[in-house]
Amino acid sequence: MSLAADFGVTLTQHVLTRQHLHPEARGQFSGLLTQIGVAGKLIAAQVRRAGLIEVWGKTGETNVQGETVKKLDRIANDTLKEVLRRSGCVAVMASEEEDDAVIVEPELSGEYVVAFDPLDGSSNIEASVSIGTIFAIYRRLPDAPGPAHLLRPGREQVAAGYIIYGSSTVLVYTDGRTVDCFTLDPGSGEFFLTRAAMAYRPVTRILSLNECNGPYWPGWVSPFLDEIKGRNDAEARRVTDRHIGSLVADFHRNLVKGGLFLYPVDARTGRGKLRLLYECNPLAFIAEVAGGAASWGGGRILDVQPTSLHQRTGLIIGAQADVALAERFVAEHG
Ligand code: AHG
Ligand code: MN
Ligand code: MN
Repeated sequence: MSLAADFGVTLTQHVLTRQHLHPEARGQFSGLLTQIGVAGKLIAAQVRRAGLIEVWGKTGETNVQGETVKKLDRIANDTLKEVLRRSGCVAVMASEEEDDAVIVEPELSGEYVVAFDPLDGSSNIEASVSIGTIFAIYRRLPDAPGPAHLLRPGREQVAAGYIIYGSSTVLVYTDGRTVDCFTLDPGSGEFFLTRAAMAYRPVTRILSLNECNGPYWPGWVSPFLDEIKGRNDAEARRVTDRHIGSLVADFHRNLVKGGLFLYPVDARTGRGKLRLLYECNPLAFIAEVAGGAASWGGGRILDVQPTSLHQRTGLIIGAQADVALAERFVAEHG
C-alpha cells in the first residue's frame, strides 16, 4: 500500500488546492477557513469537557434575544471572535451572542465578514446531545466596516458551513461549488475529508420539526404534514420522524440521510424563531449547493433582504421537491 493511501486529505490541503477556483480570493479565504477549523477544535475541546468544568451552569446574563446564555455559548463566542480577529482575514462579525456588529481594528482588518451562531442547540448541552457552530461568510464591502456589511441577502455569501460536536466532530463547508465534510481525527488533531460533494437525496425519508408547536402553526402546516405522512401505507414505511432540537444537527442528519426540517412561523405573531443571518442563510446556501432548497414559506431564504442582525424567519429546508410542495400548501392554505 502506498503511503498516500494511508491518510486522507486534510481541511487545509483541500482549501489550498481549490484556491485556483477563486482567483478573486487572494489567499485570505484559505486562511479564514483554516482558522475556523482551529476555532472548531478549540470549541470541541471545551464541549467535550462540559459538566467537568461546570460550563453547564448559566452565566446569569441574557443575550439580545432575551434568552439565558449558558457558559459554553459564551466560551464558543469568545473563541470564534478572537480566532477570527487574530486571523487578519475578517473586517466585521455578527454573532448570536453579540448585540451589535463587532468591528475588527484596522491593523487586523481583512477581506471578509462573518456571521455566526457560536453554539447552536445549547439547550441540549446538559443532556450530552449534539450541538454545533454555524457560520456565513461574505466578502467585505468597499465602505467603512459596519453592520451594513452583514445586512445583505444570503445569496451574496461566498462560503458557509458548520461544525458539529457530536459522536464525532465534523466540519462541513461550501465555497459555492461543492459541499464537503471533514471529520476531526482526535489522534492527529486534523480534520480529514470524509464526504466529498454531498448531495440531497431527492426523496424525503425523514421529517423533523417540533410537533408540539401545533397550536401555533399557520393553516398550511397540518395538511402538508398529513400529505407527507400519507406516503406511509400498509405496504411500506417511507418516511419517519427524527428531531434533535439542535437545528445544525437536524440539518446535517437530513443532508446525509434525506430529510426535511421545518420551523414554521408562529401564527399568532407571524414571526419565526430561527435567525436569518447566522442560522437560516448559511444552511440555505449549503442546501442549495447540495441540490436542495430553503424557503421561508413565501420564497427563497437567500433572497430575503435583512433589516436587522438578529432577524428571525420561518424555515423549510430539504429536498427541492418537498420544499416546493410546502410552498404550494402555503399558497393554498396560508
Ligand atoms: P440556539 O441554541 O442557538 O439558541 O438555537 C436553538 C434553535 C435551534 O437549534 C433549534 O432547532 C430550535 O432553536 C429549537 O427550538 P424549540 O425548542 O422551540 O423547538
Ligand atoms: Mn442557534
Ligand atoms: Mn446559539
